[in-house]
Amino acid sequence: MPGRLQTLLRDFRAPVHRKQAFRLLTELHQANLPLEKVVERAIRLGSNGWYRVRSLQVLSEITALAREVEALRPQVILEIGTARGGTALIWAYLAQKRLITCDLLDKRGFADLVRAFPPPGSACEVSVLIGDSHASEFAETVKRTLDGDPVDFLFIDGDHTEEGVAQDYAMYAPLVRPGGLVAFHDIVDHQPLATNQVHHFWKKVRVGADVKEIVDNPNQCGFGIGVLRVPA
Ligand SMILES: C[S@@+](CC[C@H](N)C(=O)[O-])C[C@H]1O[C@@H](n2cnc3c(N)ncnc32)[C@H](O)[C@@H]1O
Repeated sequence: MPGRLQTLLRDFRAPVHRKQAFRLLTELHQANLPLEKVVERAIRLGSNGWYRVRSLQVLSEITALAREVEALRPQVILEIGTARGGTALIWAYLAQKRLITCDLLDKRGFADLVRAFPPPGSACEVSVLIGDSHASEFAETVKRTLDGDPVDFLFIDGDHTEEGVAQDYAMYAPLVRPGGLVAFHDIVDHQPLATNQVHHFWKKVRVGADVKEIVDNPNQCGFGIGVLRVPA
């Protein structure tokens, strides 16, 4: 969370950063890049302050995940954990009808930028929902936004405690269609923070399931993506 002075500075510079971020997004849209290059750019698009777009991901891992998601030809993607929008930008290139991305924190005008993420010609509509994914009213808002459509791909990258990730899975995985995918970020055992406990949940949920582990280096600290296919 930014401090008071940092918040004031960010507010002061927001118009410049906003303009810069929209320019970078337009350049990305106009570049007409293959998926691998979109992923590379999305995780460090740039700009600053409230409008900085980036993602803390291992490039090989998030590229492999993006390919799995692309193969689904997804209509609808749901993401828990927007943060700086890096992964949402990738999903906005892949979802053909709707992207819903959720976060606890409202970053001023950042949602305007996220809603502009889909490339030209895409029919994807982006909803940025602010609130606690664990709240039942929030889950109702997600369902209303889905408007009866099943989710093709669910990315769980919000609360990283074991209880938190288990709750997100219990609440949102039932919205995923048979044959759809649920992915979890930060599944490797060795984590930089004690609160990164996704690996504990992953070890339980993968038992007997159709899963794939995307891990760049088995000895790495942090990261790693677990992908679970919902039985058809
Ligand atoms: C690791 S970041 C997400 C990164 C993003 N998916 C990316 O790679 O570009 C986790 C985000 O989840 C949000 N978060 C944590 N707990 C949450 C909750 N209970 N509901 C909604 N968002 C939550 C945090 O505010 C944070 O921005």
